[in-house]
Amino acid sequence: AQTRIAVIVGSLRKDSFNRKLALAIAHLAPSDFSFEHLRIDDLPLYNQDEDGNQAPAVKRLKSEIAAAQGLLFVTPEYNRSMPGVLKNAIDNASRPYGQSAWAGKPAGVIGVSVGAIGTALAQQHLRNVLAYLDVPTMGQPEAFIQNKEGLFDDKGHIAEGSRQFLQNWVDSYVAWVKRHSA
Ligand code: FNR
Repeated sequence: AQTRIAVIVGSLRKDSFNRKLALAIAHLAPSDFSFEHLRIDDLPLYNQDEDGNQAPAVKRLKSEIAAAQGLLFVTPEYNRSMPGVLKNAIDNASRPYGQSAWAGKPAGVIGVSVGAIGTALAQQHLRNVLAYLDVPTMGQPEAFIQNKEGLFDDKGHIAEGSRQFLQNWVDSYVAWVKRHSA
């Protein structure tokens, strides 16, 4: 059976490096893992007044998460934290209270930025949120990637010199999802 991974990319930018990183991870995963990128750009800004009447886009997001065996968060760092669009998606799918879509889904957190710390602070903030949401998140290995010219090609393959590093992360992630989704 296929193991379905819901991919949440924290950038809406067309040429996002993080989207390319998500593609590179999918290329390195075994063939029984399938990766579906979840749409988050059409979600409403979270408003608690709507908890009893969630927008179709929110219901869609929640059902896509429910159908997945694992989560993959690939996020840039904005102002030393996660982007608002990502937090908005997390908040929307966490409600109404007691009906969070996230709980129990094994997750990996990774990211690439142009800055030297390679999304380290964004990832740490995200881990804090995921811990509260009862998402078992892989602790090691960590990967803080600084983008360099030519790191990804057009199809999202990672450059030769970084491939083994990312392969090691993917292998651990795959094992993490298998262990926690059994
Ligand atoms: C950034 N960037 C950035 N980089 C970083 O390493 N630490 C940071 O705190 C920030 N802050 C930040 C804020 C805002 C509003 C923007 C637009 C950008 C730069 C960021 O790493 C760069 O734009 C990446 O290319 C974003 O990822 P995507 O869109 O390529 O996936």
